[in-house]
Amino acid sequence: MSDEVVLSAANLQKTFALGFLRKKVRAVTDVSFEVHRREIFGFVGPNGAGKTTTIKMLMGLIFPSGGQAKLFGQKVPSIAAKRRVGFLPENPYFYDYLSGEELLDLMGRLFDLGRAERKKRARTLLDRVGLGRAGSLALRKYSKGMLQRLGIAQALINDPELVVLDEPMSGLDPIGRKEIRDLIGELRTEGKTVMFSTHILADVELLCDRVAIVVGGKLRDSGPLDQLLSPQLLHTELVLESGGVKEAVRLAPDVDVDRALREALAAGKKVVSVSPRRESLEDLFVREVEIGDVGAGAEHQRRS
Ligand SMILES: Nc1ncnc2c1ncn2[C@@H]1O[C@H](COP(=O)(O)OP(=O)(O)OP(=O)(O)O)[C@@H](O)[C@H]1O
Ligand SMILES: [Mg+2]
Repeated sequence: MSDEVVLSAANLQKTFALGFLRKKVRAVTDVSFEVHRREIFGFVGPNGAGKTTTIKMLMGLIFPSGGQAKLFGQKVPSIAAKRRVGFLPENPYFYDYLSGEELLDLMGRLFDLGRAERKKRARTLLDRVGLGRAGSLALRKYSKGMLQRLGIAQALINDPELVVLDEPMSGLDPIGRKEIRDLIGELRTEGKTVMFSTHILADVELLCDRVAIVVGGKLRDSGPLDQLLSPQLLHTELVLESGGVKEAVRLAPDVDVDRALREALAAGKKVVSVSPRRESLEDLFVREVEIGDVGAGAEHQRRS
């Protein structure tokens, strides 16, 4: 990770006007964060929090109602900046009569790649996302997970410096998820910057250098994971066994664990495990969502 900012959102806002009455929906109220070169940045929040809307503003697909998005220091939209970015939309829609190879070829043409280079990259990328044998198959025959993998491959066709993925693990089975996690890790090793949104907090904990948490269209928290999570001990979980029956005991942070263990052993119990529990991203997430507009998602209001 370096200090160079490759993507920035400054007080982004988005209000949609819906229907005949132009009812206003505030999808994003105030979101600011920066993504630095060579980091893996996680963008998390509950359903309807405004993640996709924020990402679309960053990618120049919709205009913000307020605030400013920048890529590589240039105001969005910038064609020059966009050439350096790879993007996986939340629900990618591909022409389903094309094959995987043909789709990647088409995307390569959009980036003015030569024929031989397109072919080479398509092959490498298909192998990389585990679709090596499905390259010539029409996309209508792809499963959801296969389409998601292809979506990731197309996001990499221009060998981008910055990769933005909206829910890259959605639709993948546990093996597929791990493969994509490994791929994201490899991208970092190659010096790329990755920002991705997800609900899968375990993936964020395993991968991300920094995170932003958005709830109800507002940024709740952002920063390095270890700084956001409270280092305090929540409790210690003790699993004991006696006569083949297991029991779990939760010890408060101020309880003397050594003494509890001695007492358990003296009572003829077997100690199966002792696990100190500190705050996880899930605890933090639940805490933030509880503080935030619970389940409210966007703010809906009538035009006055
Ligand atoms: N085109 C649109 N017109 C009207 N409202 C919209 C539009 N797009 C999004 N919204 C609303 O904006 C809010 C945020 O939606 P968004 O898709 O950004 O959330 P999200 O965080 O990506 O959610 P999820 O985790 O379910 O993908 C929601 O309340 C949604 O209904
Ligand atoms: Mg979304």
